[in-house]
Amino acid sequence: MANFDVFRRRGFDIFEADDRSALDALRQDIFAQAKSIVGGDGNDPESFFDNFHKRGLQGGELNAFRMKLISSCNEALNVNSAVFKSFEKTLSAMVGTDVAAQRGVNIVVQQPGDVDQVMTHRDAPANSHFEVIAWVPLVDVYGTKSMFISDLDGTSKAVLALKAGGTYDDYCKTVEASSIDLEVPFGSACLFAAGVAHGAKTNVTDETRWALNIRYKNLFSPYGDKGLLEFFDILKVSPLSSVAFEFEKREYS
Ligand SMILES: [Fe+2]
Repeated sequence: MANFDVFRRRGFDIFEADDRSALDALRQDIFAQAKSIVGGDGNDPESFFDNFHKRGLQGGELNAFRMKLISSCNEALNVNSAVFKSFEKTLSAMVGTDVAAQRGVNIVVQQPGDVDQVMTHRDAPANSHFEVIAWVPLVDVYGTKSMFISDLDGTSKAVLALKAGGTYDDYCKTVEASSIDLEVPFGSACLFAAGVAHGAKTNVTDETRWALNIRYKNLFSPYGDKGLLEFFDILKVSPLSSVAFEFEKREYS
């Protein structure tokens, strides 16, 4: 059983896959989808992903590739159940036995030198605080090839300063001062609470970052702007919920 002491204190931690072969299979499937879009041979996903920038895709072309990859993965692969299976013991301990999963996965391909970065932000609000984000790198990530993340204390301090009239710049500085660059080998994931601030710097390494992110929550926990069925699907229900839904369906629908 994973230890959640660090997660409880910081709002995030790095967890090893509970089922590594499921994660390997998912990476292999995403690799196959990527190759079917841009071509390429070889059987080594790590080298294909790390060296992806050498293909010279930039700007609109890169974005078009990303969009195509995301939609083909969402059509052809059950990414939400594959990630859940890979980290099932940990995620179940985190959210319980009735699980809602984000319907579509996001895949980020961040090439060296690309200044187009996600701004420093946190997902909740507008998302609910009762969501955990699984950030799953498909390659080994470190330094600027990775993302940075603050913690519960640092984020709260930054948010309270913003509420007291501080600027977004000050907010970013406080977040960054309390942040670390995540070092995560392929085979592990960072699980973080939706309230924790995070962002990314320009990747100044010579390898491309590939990472996916997907959200899980207890089916019966509060929802934010992103609701059930529109953004989340029911992934798993407990035996009791299954019977309860059956009664509701038969007698009340
Ligand atoms: Fe985010």
